[in-house]
Amino acid sequence: MMGALTGRVAFVTGAASGIGRASAIALAAEGATVFVTDIDAEGGRETVAMIEAAGGTATFRAQDVVEEPRWAELVTRVMDLYGRLDILVNNAGIGTSGLITEVTLEQWNRQMDINVTSCFLGIKHALPAMRQPRPDGHVGGSIINISSVAGLGGSAGMSAYCASKGAVRLLTKAVAMECAAARDGIRCNSVHPGIIDTPIWQKLDTSGALSAALLGSSQPGANTIDVDAVGAGAPVGYAGRPEDIGAGVVFLASDASRYMTGSELVIDGGWTAH
Ligand SMILES: NC(=O)c1ccc[n+]([C@@H]2O[C@H](COP(=O)([O-])OP(=O)(O)OC[C@H]3O[C@@H](n4cnc5c(N)ncnc54)[C@H](O)[C@@H]3O)[C@@H](O)[C@H]2O)c1
Repeated sequence: MMGALTGRVAFVTGAASGIGRASAIALAAEGATVFVTDIDAEGGRETVAMIEAAGGTATFRAQDVVEEPRWAELVTRVMDLYGRLDILVNNAGIGTSGLITEVTLEQWNRQMDINVTSCFLGIKHALPAMRQPRPDGHVGGSIINISSVAGLGGSAGMSAYCASKGAVRLLTKAVAMECAAARDGIRCNSVHPGIIDTPIWQKLDTSGALSAALLGSSQPGANTIDVDAVGAGAPVGYAGRPEDIGAGVVFLASDASRYMTGSELVIDGGWTAH
Protein backbone atom coordinates (compact mmCIF):
# COMPACT_ATOMS: atom_id res chain seq x y z
CA MET A 1 0.00 0.00 0.00
CA MET A 2 2.62 2.57 -0.99
CA GLY A 3 1.36 6.12 -0.46
CA ALA A 4 -2.02 4.94 0.85
CA LEU A 5 -2.09 7.86 3.31
CA THR A 6 -0.56 10.63 1.25
CA GLY A 7 -1.94 14.00 2.35
CA ARG A 8 -3.48 12.62 5.55
CA VAL A 9 -2.62 13.82 9.06
CA ALA A 10 -2.34 11.35 11.95
CA PHE A 11 -2.18 11.97 15.72
CA VAL A 12 -0.46 9.11 17.57
CA THR A 13 -0.20 8.99 21.38
CA GLY A 14 2.49 7.07 23.24
CA ALA A 15 4.58 7.20 20.10
CA ALA A 16 7.97 7.41 21.84
CA SER A 17 8.23 3.64 22.14
CA GLY A 18 7.03 0.22 21.07
CA ILE A 19 3.74 -0.07 19.21
CA GLY A 20 3.10 3.69 19.08
CA ARG A 21 6.51 4.33 17.53
CA ALA A 22 6.11 1.49 15.02
CA SER A 23 2.63 2.76 14.11
CA ALA A 24 3.87 6.34 13.64
CA ILE A 25 6.71 5.11 11.42
CA ALA A 26 4.37 2.90 9.38
CA LEU A 27 1.80 5.68 8.93
CA ALA A 28 4.52 8.08 7.81
CA ALA A 29 5.91 5.50 5.39
CA GLU A 30 2.50 5.53 3.69
CA GLY A 31 2.68 9.29 3.31
CA ALA A 32 0.84 10.53 6.40
CA THR A 33 2.13 13.53 8.32
CA VAL A 34 2.40 12.29 11.88
CA PHE A 35 1.84 14.28 15.06
CA VAL A 36 3.81 12.28 17.63
CA THR A 37 3.00 12.72 21.32
CA ASP A 38 4.22 11.13 24.56
CA ILE A 39 5.28 11.99 28.10
CA ASP A 40 8.74 10.78 27.05
CA ALA A 41 10.12 13.75 25.10
CA GLU A 42 13.46 12.14 24.30
CA GLY A 43 11.83 9.03 22.84
CA GLY A 44 9.25 11.10 21.00
CA ARG A 45 11.93 13.21 19.32
CA GLU A 46 13.78 10.02 18.45
CA THR A 47 10.65 8.71 16.69
CA VAL A 48 10.41 11.95 14.72
CA ALA A 49 14.09 11.67 13.76
CA MET A 50 13.53 8.09 12.58
CA ILE A 51 10.55 9.17 10.45
CA GLU A 52 12.48 12.09 8.97
CA ALA A 53 15.52 9.91 8.26
CA ALA A 54 13.23 7.67 6.20
CA GLY A 55 11.95 10.70 4.24
CA GLY A 56 8.70 11.18 6.15
CA THR A 57 7.16 14.14 7.96
CA ALA A 58 6.47 14.28 11.69
CA THR A 59 6.50 16.61 14.65
CA PHE A 60 6.63 15.93 18.40
CA ARG A 61 4.73 17.51 21.28
CA ALA A 62 4.86 16.45 24.92
CA GLN A 63 1.52 15.18 26.17
CA ASP A 64 0.19 13.44 29.23
CA VAL A 65 -2.92 11.78 27.80
CA VAL A 66 -4.86 12.12 31.04
CA GLU A 67 -4.82 15.94 30.92
CA GLU A 68 -7.89 17.31 29.16
CA PRO A 69 -6.67 20.90 28.57
CA ARG A 70 -3.57 19.51 26.81
CA TRP A 71 -5.77 17.48 24.44
CA ALA A 72 -7.68 20.64 23.51
CA GLU A 73 -4.43 22.58 23.00
CA LEU A 74 -2.81 19.91 20.84
CA VAL A 75 -5.80 19.31 18.58
CA THR A 76 -5.92 23.08 18.00
CA ARG A 77 -2.19 22.97 17.29
CA VAL A 78 -2.65 20.23 14.67
CA MET A 79 -5.37 22.24 12.97
CA ASP A 80 -3.21 25.40 13.03
CA LEU A 81 -0.23 23.51 11.60
CA TYR A 82 -1.90 21.29 9.01
CA GLY A 83 -5.54 22.41 8.70
CA ARG A 84 -6.85 18.86 9.02
CA LEU A 85 -6.92 15.75 11.19
CA ASP A 86 -7.69 12.41 9.53
CA ILE A 87 -6.42 9.71 11.88
CA LEU A 88 -6.28 9.36 15.67
CA VAL A 89 -4.35 6.46 17.22
CA ASN A 90 -5.07 6.16 20.96
CA ASN A 91 -2.08 4.00 21.85
CA ALA A 92 -0.52 5.33 25.08
CA GLY A 93 -0.92 2.79 27.84
CA ILE A 94 0.56 1.13 30.88
CA GLY A 95 0.19 -2.31 32.40
CA THR A 96 -0.71 -2.69 36.05
CA SER A 97 -0.44 -6.18 37.45
CA GLY A 98 -1.56 -7.47 40.80
CA LEU A 99 -3.99 -9.89 42.34
CA ILE A 100 -7.42 -8.25 42.71
CA THR A 101 -7.14 -8.36 46.50
CA GLU A 102 -3.83 -6.49 46.35
CA VAL A 103 -4.44 -3.82 43.73
CA THR A 104 -4.79 -0.42 45.38
CA LEU A 105 -7.50 2.04 44.42
CA GLU A 106 -4.75 4.42 43.33
CA GLN A 107 -3.28 1.78 40.96
CA TRP A 108 -6.75 0.97 39.62
CA ASN A 109 -7.60 4.62 38.96
CA ARG A 110 -4.24 5.27 37.29
CA GLN A 111 -4.71 2.23 35.05
CA MET A 112 -8.17 3.42 34.03
CA ASP A 113 -7.05 7.04 33.55
CA ILE A 114 -4.13 6.22 31.26
CA ASN A 115 -5.70 3.38 29.28
CA VAL A 116 -9.39 4.36 29.06
CA THR A 117 -10.02 7.98 30.05
CA SER A 118 -7.25 8.97 27.64
CA CYS A 119 -9.20 7.39 24.75
CA PHE A 120 -12.39 9.19 25.82
CA LEU A 121 -10.56 12.53 25.95
CA GLY A 122 -8.76 11.95 22.68
CA ILE A 123 -11.94 11.06 20.81
CA LYS A 124 -13.93 13.86 22.43
CA HIS A 125 -11.43 16.49 21.35
CA ALA A 126 -10.32 15.05 18.02
CA LEU A 127 -13.76 14.27 16.56
CA PRO A 128 -14.86 17.88 15.94
CA ALA A 129 -11.56 18.51 14.12
CA MET A 130 -11.89 15.27 12.13
CA ARG A 131 -15.36 16.37 11.02
CA GLN A 132 -14.01 19.57 9.43
CA PRO A 133 -14.00 19.70 5.62
CA ARG A 134 -10.59 19.06 3.98
CA PRO A 135 -9.09 21.07 1.13
CA ASP A 136 -8.79 17.89 -1.00
CA GLY A 137 -12.44 16.96 -0.46
CA HIS A 138 -11.60 13.91 1.65
CA VAL A 139 -14.45 13.16 4.04
CA GLY A 140 -14.33 11.06 7.19
CA GLY A 141 -11.47 9.65 9.16
CA SER A 142 -10.27 6.77 11.26
CA ILE A 143 -10.02 6.42 15.04
CA ILE A 144 -7.91 3.48 16.15
CA ASN A 145 -7.87 2.46 19.80
CA ILE A 146 -5.17 0.07 20.95
CA SER A 147 -6.84 -2.49 23.19
CA SER A 148 -5.31 -5.94 23.79
CA VAL A 149 -6.08 -9.64 23.87
CA ALA A 150 -6.58 -8.71 27.54
CA GLY A 151 -9.67 -6.83 26.35
CA LEU A 152 -11.10 -10.05 24.94
CA GLY A 153 -10.43 -12.52 27.76
CA GLY A 154 -9.44 -12.52 31.40
CA SER A 155 -5.96 -13.06 32.78
CA ALA A 156 -5.06 -13.85 36.42
CA GLY A 157 -3.08 -11.05 38.04
CA MET A 158 -4.20 -8.55 35.37
CA SER A 159 -7.71 -7.55 36.49
CA ALA A 160 -7.17 -3.78 36.26
CA TYR A 161 -5.47 -4.06 32.88
CA CYS A 162 -8.15 -6.42 31.51
CA ALA A 163 -10.92 -4.13 32.77
CA SER A 164 -9.26 -1.15 31.09
CA LYS A 165 -8.79 -2.91 27.75
CA GLY A 166 -12.32 -4.34 27.82
CA ALA A 167 -13.58 -0.79 28.33
CA VAL A 168 -11.55 0.41 25.34
CA ARG A 169 -13.17 -2.33 23.22
CA LEU A 170 -16.73 -1.18 23.99
CA LEU A 171 -15.94 2.53 23.97
CA THR A 172 -14.76 1.88 20.42
CA LYS A 173 -18.01 0.23 19.39
CA ALA A 174 -20.18 2.95 20.97
CA VAL A 175 -18.22 5.70 19.20
CA ALA A 176 -18.46 3.72 15.94
CA MET A 177 -22.26 3.71 16.35
CA GLU A 178 -22.36 7.45 17.04
CA CYS A 179 -20.25 8.27 14.02
CA ALA A 180 -22.22 5.91 11.77
CA ALA A 181 -25.47 7.53 12.92
CA ALA A 182 -23.99 10.97 12.28
CA ARG A 183 -23.02 9.85 8.73
CA ASP A 184 -19.72 11.64 9.24
CA GLY A 185 -17.63 8.97 7.51
CA ILE A 186 -15.48 8.53 10.60
CA ARG A 187 -14.73 4.94 11.53
CA CYS A 188 -13.66 3.70 14.94
CA ASN A 189 -12.01 0.32 15.46
CA SER A 190 -9.95 -1.40 18.15
CA VAL A 191 -6.71 -3.32 17.71
CA HIS A 192 -6.00 -6.29 19.96
CA PRO A 193 -2.30 -7.15 20.07
CA GLY A 194 -1.14 -10.38 21.66
CA ILE A 195 2.34 -10.72 23.17
CA ILE A 196 4.43 -8.05 21.45
CA ASP A 197 8.09 -7.47 22.21
CA THR A 198 8.14 -3.88 23.54
CA PRO A 199 9.50 -2.18 26.68
CA ILE A 200 6.07 -2.44 28.39
CA TRP A 201 7.02 -5.88 29.69
CA GLN A 202 9.99 -4.46 31.60
CA LYS A 203 7.77 -1.82 33.20
CA LEU A 204 5.25 -4.29 34.71
CA ASP A 205 5.41 -4.90 38.44
CA THR A 206 6.20 -8.60 38.81
CA SER A 207 7.04 -8.73 42.49
CA GLY A 208 6.31 -11.59 44.86
CA ALA A 209 3.58 -14.15 44.23
CA LEU A 210 2.32 -12.09 41.38
CA SER A 211 4.65 -13.27 38.67
CA ALA A 212 3.49 -16.87 39.04
CA ALA A 213 -0.15 -15.78 38.75
CA LEU A 214 0.60 -13.58 35.81
CA LEU A 215 2.81 -15.81 33.77
CA GLY A 216 2.17 -19.34 34.91
CA SER A 217 5.55 -20.70 33.95
CA SER A 218 7.63 -17.72 35.10
CA GLN A 219 10.07 -17.84 37.98
CA PRO A 220 8.28 -16.68 41.16
CA GLY A 221 9.96 -13.55 42.46
CA ALA A 222 11.55 -12.66 39.15
CA ASN A 223 11.44 -8.93 38.63
CA THR A 224 11.60 -8.87 34.89
CA ILE A 225 9.50 -10.71 32.36
CA ASP A 226 11.12 -12.65 29.56
CA VAL A 227 8.87 -11.66 26.68
CA ASP A 228 10.34 -14.40 24.50
CA ALA A 229 9.29 -17.00 27.06
CA VAL A 230 5.77 -15.56 27.24
CA GLY A 231 5.59 -15.28 23.45
CA ALA A 232 6.58 -18.93 23.15
CA GLY A 233 3.16 -19.66 24.64
CA ALA A 234 1.42 -18.25 21.55
CA PRO A 235 0.27 -20.90 19.07
CA VAL A 236 2.82 -19.62 16.54
CA GLY A 237 5.52 -20.06 19.20
CA TYR A 238 6.99 -16.57 19.37
CA ALA A 239 6.26 -12.97 20.38
CA GLY A 240 5.17 -10.44 17.76
CA ARG A 241 7.04 -7.31 16.82
CA PRO A 242 5.68 -3.75 17.13
CA GLU A 243 5.73 -3.55 13.31
CA ASP A 244 3.13 -6.34 13.19
CA ILE A 245 0.73 -3.99 14.96
CA GLY A 246 1.84 -0.96 12.94
CA ALA A 247 0.77 -2.79 9.78
CA GLY A 248 -2.71 -3.30 11.23
CA VAL A 249 -2.91 0.35 12.23
CA VAL A 250 -2.04 1.41 8.67
CA PHE A 251 -4.74 -0.87 7.31
CA LEU A 252 -7.38 0.60 9.65
CA ALA A 253 -6.19 4.14 8.88
CA SER A 254 -6.40 3.65 5.14
CA ASP A 255 -9.35 3.51 2.76
CA ALA A 256 -8.65 -0.22 2.33
CA SER A 257 -10.71 -0.69 5.51
CA ARG A 258 -13.44 1.78 4.50
CA TYR A 259 -16.29 -0.62 5.37
CA MET A 260 -14.87 -1.54 8.81
CA THR A 261 -16.17 0.22 11.89
CA GLY A 262 -16.77 -0.99 15.43
CA SER A 263 -14.55 -3.97 14.63
CA GLU A 264 -11.80 -5.73 16.56
CA LEU A 265 -8.58 -6.34 14.67
CA VAL A 266 -6.84 -9.17 16.51
CA ILE A 267 -3.09 -9.53 15.84
CA ASP A 268 -1.94 -12.16 18.29
CA GLY A 269 -0.18 -15.12 16.68
CA GLY A 270 -3.26 -17.20 17.43
CA TRP A 271 -3.30 -16.38 21.18
CA THR A 272 -7.11 -16.08 21.30
CA ALA A 273 -7.90 -18.67 18.63
CA HIS A 274 -8.01 -21.67 20.95
N1 LIG B 1 3.40 -5.00 24.14
C1 LIG B 1 2.37 -5.82 24.23
O1 LIG B 1 2.53 -7.04 24.37
C2 LIG B 1 0.97 -5.27 24.17
C3 LIG B 1 -0.09 -6.16 24.01
C4 LIG B 1 -1.38 -5.69 23.95
C5 LIG B 1 -1.63 -4.33 24.02
N2 LIG B 1 -0.60 -3.47 24.18
C6 LIG B 1 -0.93 -2.04 24.26
O2 LIG B 1 -0.20 -1.33 23.28
C7 LIG B 1 -0.04 0.03 23.70
C8 LIG B 1 1.42 0.41 23.54
O3 LIG B 1 2.19 -0.39 24.42
P1 LIG B 1 3.70 -0.82 24.14
O4 LIG B 1 3.76 -2.27 24.32
O5 LIG B 1 4.19 -0.20 22.90
O6 LIG B 1 4.39 -0.17 25.45
P2 LIG B 1 5.58 0.88 25.60
O7 LIG B 1 5.78 0.98 27.08
O8 LIG B 1 6.72 0.51 24.74
O9 LIG B 1 4.95 2.23 25.04
C9 LIG B 1 3.93 2.92 25.70
C10 LIG B 1 4.17 4.40 25.52
O10 LIG B 1 3.10 5.10 26.18
C11 LIG B 1 3.67 6.22 26.85
N3 LIG B 1 2.82 6.65 27.96
C12 LIG B 1 2.59 6.01 29.13
N4 LIG B 1 1.80 6.76 29.90
C13 LIG B 1 1.52 7.90 29.20
C14 LIG B 1 0.76 9.06 29.49
N5 LIG B 1 0.13 9.24 30.64
N6 LIG B 1 0.68 10.01 28.53
C15 LIG B 1 1.33 9.86 27.35
N7 LIG B 1 2.07 8.79 27.04
C16 LIG B 1 2.17 7.83 27.97
C17 LIG B 1 5.03 5.72 27.33
O11 LIG B 1 5.90 6.79 27.63
C18 LIG B 1 5.48 4.89 26.15
O12 LIG B 1 6.22 5.64 25.22
C19 LIG B 1 -0.56 0.09 25.14
O13 LIG B 1 -1.87 0.62 25.15
C20 LIG B 1 -0.55 -1.36 25.56
O14 LIG B 1 -1.47 -1.63 26.59
C21 LIG B 1 0.69 -3.90 24.25
